[in-house]
Amino acid sequence: MLGKNILLCVTGGIAVFKAAALTSKLAQSGAHVKVIMTESACKFVAPLTFQALSRNEVYTDTFDEKHPEKIAHIDLADWADLVLIAPATANMIGKLANGIADDMVSTTILATTAPVWVAPAMNVHMYGHPAVRRNLETLKGFGYRLIEPADGHLACGYTGKGRLEEPENIVALLKDFFSGGPKPLSGKTVLVTAGPTIEKIDPVRFLSNRSSGKMGFALAEEAANMGANVLLVTSVDTLAPPAGTEIIKAESAEEMYHAVMGRYKEADIIIKSAAVADYTPVRVFDKKMKKQPGNLTLELKRTKDILKELGERLDKPFLVGFAAETDHLENYARGKMERKRADMIVANDVSREGAGFAGDTNIVTIFKRDGSKRELPLLSKHEAAREILREICREIEKDEKK
Ligand code: CTP
Repeated sequence: MLGKNILLCVTGGIAVFKAAALTSKLAQSGAHVKVIMTESACKFVAPLTFQALSRNEVYTDTFDEKHPEKIAHIDLADWADLVLIAPATANMIGKLANGIADDMVSTTILATTAPVWVAPAMNVHMYGHPAVRRNLETLKGFGYRLIEPADGHLACGYTGKGRLEEPENIVALLKDFFSGGPKPLSGKTVLVTAGPTIEKIDPVRFLSNRSSGKMGFALAEEAANMGANVLLVTSVDTLAPPAGTEIIKAESAEEMYHAVMGRYKEADIIIKSAAVADYTPVRVFDKKMKKQPGNLTLELKRTKDILKELGERLDKPFLVGFAAETDHLENYARGKMERKRADMIVANDVSREGAGFAGDTNIVTIFKRDGSKRELPLLSKHEAAREILREICREIEKDEKK
């Protein structure tokens, strides 16, 4: 962090008091810190606090140009090695997602080419609102990095996700970023499959499942952060493609089979988090089916089990399967590991609160070939992805030492 220019943008929420501690920790770690505050942030903590902690003047108004030789927001935008918005309110996230530049923070961020990190803090329901979720996806699509809020007691009285990540954890993330971070997967290729498959019935109808692809996308993004070359095979086009991954489109189980089989030889690790249909219609109608009197019977046939087929290959890479269950988690997970000759199974009970398909959290248990298991607590899908990848790295290291 030594000598790095960090532009901290503080927007208005109760977590502004934590941004003061963050400023202090950033300055202590050797970074040069400049702070911009929105008008509402100033209602929580006075700019003087940030001025004293950063030892720099604090910017609050785009039109308050103190130095005639410069235009402040352009100067700051160019000065920054990294822009950090902490806390980021729903309002600021919404403005940035839509390119609105009507205050010093949003104008400067629009003008910068530096990496932008966003650390949201807000009420749990606000964080879960579809508008905020959509806007965060848009920001991720711009390449902005999200520092997910933590779970816990919120100032509004609720308990849940929405607390600004602790300042020391934010500083640790930035340190990793500037040092290039630990790259345990550098030189490795990881193939991830994500999301549901779509089995066509006719041009307007299909069979699918509730998988969102979020777990697989998180695995792909985190694997790329750990230095891997990532291939992401998916039907999902509603999530922003993670930076540094190659997307390979595959809708049906059959297409996914061909996509994976066509590229598996490049992979050192395959993570099959996709929820692949076990059955597909025998016949796909090329014209829209019209209703008839009486019941309709659709005949379905089995799809190819991609994981099982990979497990039978002699040149198989390290294979990780997923098991989404509602009961007998351990038995089913271990059965799948045996049957499909996987090296690891990541299992989750989808009936548990916080472990469902569409949410941002997961509760997983990792089963390994040596018979051991590791139960992880409720984590964000990104945190769970990091833990799964660390576990894979440990297993591969063991194999390489043999
Ligand atoms: N899988 C696959 N190809 C299929 C079906 C599943 O590669 N045609 C993979 C999934 O991606 C997942 C793992 O196998 O990693 C477990 O999937 P699941 O459907 O739960 O397993 P099944 O063996 O089909 O078990 P079940 O009896 O629950 O249907």
